[in-house]
Amino acid sequence: MEQILQQIETFTKEIENYSISGTQNLEEYRIRFLGTKGIVKNLFGEMRNVPPENKKDFGFVLNQFKQLAEARYEALKQSLSGNESSTVDDIDLSLPGNPVEFGSRHPISLVRNRIINIFQRLGFSIADGPEIDDDWHNFTALNLPENHPARDMQDTFYINQNPDWLLRTHTSNVQIREMQKGKLPIRIICPGRVYRNETISARAHCFFHQVEGLYIDENVSFADLKQTLYFFAQEMYGKNVKLRFRPSYFPFTEPSAELDVSCFICGGSGCRICKQTGWVEILGCGMVHPKVLENCGIDPEKYTGYAFGMGIERPAMLLYQINDLRLFSENDVRFLKQFTSAV
Ligand code: DAH
Repeated sequence: MEQILQQIETFTKEIENYSISGTQNLEEYRIRFLGTKGIVKNLFGEMRNVPPENKKDFGFVLNQFKQLAEARYEALKQSLSGNESSTVDDIDLSLPGNPVEFGSRHPISLVRNRIINIFQRLGFSIADGPEIDDDWHNFTALNLPENHPARDMQDTFYINQNPDWLLRTHTSNVQIREMQKGKLPIRIICPGRVYRNETISARAHCFFHQVEGLYIDENVSFADLKQTLYFFAQEMYGKNVKLRFRPSYFPFTEPSAELDVSCFICGGSGCRICKQTGWVEILGCGMVHPKVLENCGIDPEKYTGYAFGMGIERPAMLLYQINDLRLFSENDVRFLKQFTSAV
């Protein structure tokens, strides 16, 4: 009896001090004290060796011990629920962590930023202008008066409420707005979105992006234009790139040219991208037409300047080998997450 009572005392202490850190220990506790071969069961088994006169007292002590063991079990179980996964034993250190998804820049932004960066190094600053503008800034001031056939080159979205308003068809409207400010010299580039009423397909969209450039000062020559564009093309497409200025026509420049670079995919030998010609057209440019300067209150006898305008989508498609223009505006994350750095 003595011995058993001493054992109960030891077990009681053990129960009171029992601490667990997970369901596994809880189960160990249950098996040790409350299991079919556990301590409580064993102690009750001792009953048969107890003399009859002591059975009552011994039974009382045993029952108390059993209740203690059970109550402690419930308490331990309670303490586990809710914070089970935060206990040290349950953390599986071999599991992969929660991944932090990195955002990525849109390919149009990557190419635009690269263009901006090159011109900023040449001292160009960034100008901005409205995407909804009036007819005068988008057309007339740029030497495209009403009924001018060149207006047909760009299918325009007009605003219903006011037919004088439109979605700009090019970023050249910013040229006009900058010149109107009357602060000379001007050396700006203007990246932005433009709109044209085109049927959406792999090769055309109703909006796209351009970067406009404008430099006005005394004695600006076509040689300055060429030098600037040479620098740009080499920084953008590689040191070995060759340039070809082709005479062209824009109402707002005279003379006008289009600039081709030797194909930066095949190096000029001919491939699918350059349609076997070895050349890729990248921009339109020219000397600002004297009438445009006049329209903005700048004396064409004193000042000259050059302008250029380039699309962003096409170089982006060439550089990243994207074959469908619609991908740029569909917001498909599977497409967008591929562009983590500039090419
Ligand atoms: N605005 C022309 C277009 O959208 C591009 C352009 C050509 C801009 C020649 C210019 C320029 O500033 O000089 O097609």
